[in-house]
Amino acid sequence: MYKAEKYAKMLYDRIGIRPQIGIVLGSGLGGLGEKIESPIAVDYADLPEFPVSTAPGHKGRFLAGTLSGKPVLCMQGRLHAYEGHSMEALSLPIRVMRLLGVETLILTNAAGGVNRAFSVGDIMLIEDHINFMGRNPLIGPNDDTFGCRFPDMSFAYAPELRRLAEICADETGISIQKGVYLACTGPSYETPAEIRAFRALGADAVGMSTVPEVIAANHCGMRVLAFSLISNMAAGVTDQRLTEEEVLETGRRKGAEMQKLICRILEKL
Ligand code: HPA
Repeated sequence: MYKAEKYAKMLYDRIGIRPQIGIVLGSGLGGLGEKIESPIAVDYADLPEFPVSTAPGHKGRFLAGTLSGKPVLCMQGRLHAYEGHSMEALSLPIRVMRLLGVETLILTNAAGGVNRAFSVGDIMLIEDHINFMGRNPLIGPNDDTFGCRFPDMSFAYAPELRRLAEICADETGISIQKGVYLACTGPSYETPAEIRAFRALGADAVGMSTVPEVIAANHCGMRVLAFSLISNMAAGVTDQRLTEEEVLETGRRKGAEMQKLICRILEKL
């Protein structure tokens, strides 16, 4: 609690609001941050010893302000295990958000399409996940002030928020896929054999983030909604090689649709 409380206090002194909605923006999807009105930006690097974000396409700052008329606190750029951050470090910003009043967390990521029925540029509403990171952010002494030792994950992606997302997608004419997100640590992309195995396990999309944050958020009682932008088809699905540039390019090309959908959801929250 101490560390998260310290940063929550520091952040509150800078932003002066207690938003109920938190947003975590994934690779190439930081553009939503630019839509925030009256933004106050706080770079992670300006918070002493706060973990910094080094991944391409991630700005590495908190943005507080108003989006669709709702006060929000946004992470424009997230932290990943492949950067060398501990799983505990990945849960820190989520706990800081919780202490600042966030009750609903919306996350986005870029992911590889495992389901052959998906296409590059599709938005996938995450219905559930498979943690293939081999680690869990809650390992270690439990901090009872946040949540219990063995948190239930049966409804990790809040059913009522998923229903709302589907309604908003309908209303805005944005077609969405639904499915299971499987998280690996990266940073190497998966092999075609791994992707075949993950498909057999029930994965529809694969990525290197989100799951630690979702576990930490569920632990501290937040409602979670998450989306993947299918930035590329996963390894072996086509005969193409995977590139980081394709991931960011799909974000640039299709990010606006994701932004529109999230703005509509915020209006209705
Ligand atoms: N694999 C893992 N992470 C990713 C991918 C992928 O194919 N695309 C974007 N993030």
